[in-house]
Amino acid sequence: MSSVLVTRKLPSSVLSKLHAAAAVDLYAGDAAIPADELRARVADKDALVCLLTDPIDRAVLDAAPRLKVVANVAIGCNNIDVAYAKSRGIHVTNTPEVLTESVADFTWALILAVTRRLSEGERLLRRGEWKGWALDFMLGSELRGKQLGIVGLGRIGRAVAARAPTFGMRVAYTSRGAGTGSSPAVPGLDPMSLDRLLLTSDVVSLHVPLTPATRHLIDKRALTRMKRSAYLINTARGPVVDEEALAWALQQHLLAGAALDVYENEPAIHPDLPRLENVLLVPHLASGTTETRTAMAALAIENVLAVLAGRSPLTPVT
Ligand code: GLV
Repeated sequence: MSSVLVTRKLPSSVLSKLHAAAAVDLYAGDAAIPADELRARVADKDALVCLLTDPIDRAVLDAAPRLKVVANVAIGCNNIDVAYAKSRGIHVTNTPEVLTESVADFTWALILAVTRRLSEGERLLRRGEWKGWALDFMLGSELRGKQLGIVGLGRIGRAVAARAPTFGMRVAYTSRGAGTGSSPAVPGLDPMSLDRLLLTSDVVSLHVPLTPATRHLIDKRALTRMKRSAYLINTARGPVVDEEALAWALQQHLLAGAALDVYENEPAIHPDLPRLENVLLVPHLASGTTETRTAMAALAIENVLAVLAGRSPLTPVT
């Protein structure tokens, strides 16, 4: 029987399917499995089911001579040395599609919340500082007639764009090759360079994977391009934004606000951010519904079972 290491408790319906097909070694701790324990426990395993909080580096992969597949319960795989895994003939899989709609909904929750100052208003209310309704009190900004700039038009970027007409927004996007003439046209959406998108958008929403090319894509220079009335939304990966530069830009009011679900050094966040009223901060929740997290875990298990049965994985990371 094949053996599988699972680094965190998964929904029981999903785990029982794995138990039926393989010997399961489940790390039952509440926090991420310590690196030395991960290396020790993966040593005799055929498959590894892990989370985005588990760094799967060369040392882990080298500790596991029998490993055939690493199944990440996440769409982003920046926690895994994918190139090295591939060079060792190990499949790496992720969980696309099953989380697209829930992340797109959540992105809109952030867009609406930050432009209408929901968390700022709630904080004030909880501090007991509300003095009552006033015509000019805590005014937000409307979305209708404005431009949503999508950075990265993959599945999630498209799903976010698809919801824009409901709120009366037009959509611009930048994607590999957009604005250079080489990107295929997307009906109704306006391709442009990142620079132009930053200069013209009222809301900029990030949907790129974290790679060496997208690390600090939104740096000081990019932030100074944005309209002073614009908002930045990040549900992608923290290091796509230079957090220090963002804290500075928010302090200088170079943009109207930001809503962040992800951070450069999770779970730590830049110490200036919680002190600022013009930023909405949530703890990496975009795919966090019971339905979606269960579907993500189930897909990871399907990938493991396919590889262990000698078939191709359903959703390989390419
Ligand atoms: C969540 O951040 C994911 O990559 O699935």
